[in-house]
Amino acid sequence: MNPKADFIWMDGKMVPWDKATVHVMTHTLHYGLGAFEGIRAYKLTDGRSGVFRLREHIDRLFMSCKFVGITVPYTPEEIETACLETLAVNRLEDGYVRPLVYIGDGAMGLFAIDNPIHVIVATWKWGAYLGDEGLINGIRVKTSSFVRNHPNSMLAKGKICGHYVNSVLAKREAMRDGYKEAILLDTDGYVSEASGENIFLVTKNVLQTPEMAAPILAGVTRDSVLTLAKEMGLAVVEQRFPRDLMYMADEIFLTGTAAEVTPVSEVDGRKVGLGRRGPVCEAIQTRYFAAVRGEDANHRDWVTVYEPERL
Ligand SMILES: Cc1ncc(COP(=O)(O)O)c(C=O)c1O
Repeated sequence: MNPKADFIWMDGKMVPWDKATVHVMTHTLHYGLGAFEGIRAYKLTDGRSGVFRLREHIDRLFMSCKFVGITVPYTPEEIETACLETLAVNRLEDGYVRPLVYIGDGAMGLFAIDNPIHVIVATWKWGAYLGDEGLINGIRVKTSSFVRNHPNSMLAKGKICGHYVNSVLAKREAMRDGYKEAILLDTDGYVSEASGENIFLVTKNVLQTPEMAAPILAGVTRDSVLTLAKEMGLAVVEQRFPRDLMYMADEIFLTGTAAEVTPVSEVDGRKVGLGRRGPVCEAIQTRYFAAVRGEDANHRDWVTVYEPERL
């Protein structure tokens, strides 16, 4: 999938997609210190368009930057507006939104504290990350040979560019071996998350996902699913688990802005439940997709409406 749209917001200006380039001495390109977000916009059931949980994503972007000592030269409100304007100018009724904060060229070496900080917001059309078929029938996943970074090596709660080397290694290994996604264990041997999603088990109608203290990204989708599950009256446990609990689970699903709520049909060559999407996952998908489309009266505030420009 090659993303493409007409414009990218670059340091306050709308720049044509092909001209939105950086210098090869861009600091982040060499050392990986930068932060980004992944946000989705949906066509709402009432015909308008809306960004799902924009504020929470922008808050996490600023938190990620705080973790690594980057001062964003814009306010959260300005970045929110940039996201909405970039969707609008690209006439996207739905799509993916990628704000990125990066350190520009100037000094080389690790310290480089005075290099300029840049921000871009790109948007593009993006379908189901783990496949439309995966959303219905589930995907096959594999426990990775790569381990999630130790909490004192990386700050997992930050969506930091360089962290994703760990995820890319795991994802590529899994795909090369014929699986759709990788499940990473943490340095204590417990399940943490997938390369770009949080993980949930359903065992005897109890939902379980690793707790916030585990080395996981605090997924916005994870939070949405926990909220919806509690409203549905499901019991929820936030506690990490060893891999054999995956083998015992009735259902497993992954959550993420890109992957939405994707069921897992098989893990490490073992069927999950009946080897297809289970009823709890399906019920949560229904609630989740209603919320992102602005149908859930309890959660209209999760959606920020915007108006795509017309031709
Ligand atoms: C490592 C990792 N875990 C979990 C998630 C899910 O987070 P969210 O639901 O906020 O997209 C993502 C996606 O951004 C991720 O990259």
